[in-house]
Amino acid sequence: MTTPSESLGFIHRFIPAPEPDSSLTLVLLHGTGGDETDLLGVGRQLAPAAALLSPRGRVSENGMARFFRRLAEGVFDLEDLRIRTHELADFVEAAAQRYRFASDRVVAVGFSNGANIAASMLLLRPQVLAGASLFRAMVPLLPETVPSLRGKPVLLAAGRLDPIVRPEQTERLRRLLAQAGAKVTLHWEEAGHELTNGDIATARVWLRESATAPGDRSRDQQAKARET
Ligand code: MLT
Repeated sequence: MTTPSESLGFIHRFIPAPEPDSSLTLVLLHGTGGDETDLLGVGRQLAPAAALLSPRGRVSENGMARFFRRLAEGVFDLEDLRIRTHELADFVEAAAQRYRFASDRVVAVGFSNGANIAASMLLLRPQVLAGASLFRAMVPLLPETVPSLRGKPVLLAAGRLDPIVRPEQTERLRRLLAQAGAKVTLHWEEAGHELTNGDIATARVWLRESATAPGDRSRDQQAKARET
């Protein structure tokens, strides 16, 4: 059952876990101009047994939804980014109570602008996320103090030909997250800024191996076996 909702401060979808005892929830964060439906299919491919929570960014840039304001391509309004990061983190915490999912088993899956706010959430509200899969992310901000992300799995999926996120940006983000103690996996696609099937296949394996509990893992494997 899908629940479209405007409550909790964000227009969002929540899809409960198909298996009631699965504890993993993916928070799906779309790119600029997307909405809460964009990544539902990707989320289901990544983790067939997981619950899916997918908010729409509350900022409008010429009618395109985003999660925070920017001044130009890759130049962020840092004050707005901080405020929006806390709003989103509060939303995830409130949604865990409303929909009764495990608040310590939440993994963000973000693309582009959604990946950037997910990275910001890791840096400013690390307790909200158990891990993150970041497609085409850049360094969103530099936190005043380095948070502890000790042992949290983070996948950075970058495009070698990405005209928006240069390789040195990816490398800076990798270093920042690793310095905070995250278990960073860096994956390079022969691609630009767009999300590819290779990204999804990589994230699926990464999620199964590093970010799911044993119960989720066996259920995901059963679901995969049913698909084939
Ligand atoms: C951003 O603004 O978050 C990044 O430049 C990516 C984008 O949304 O184009």
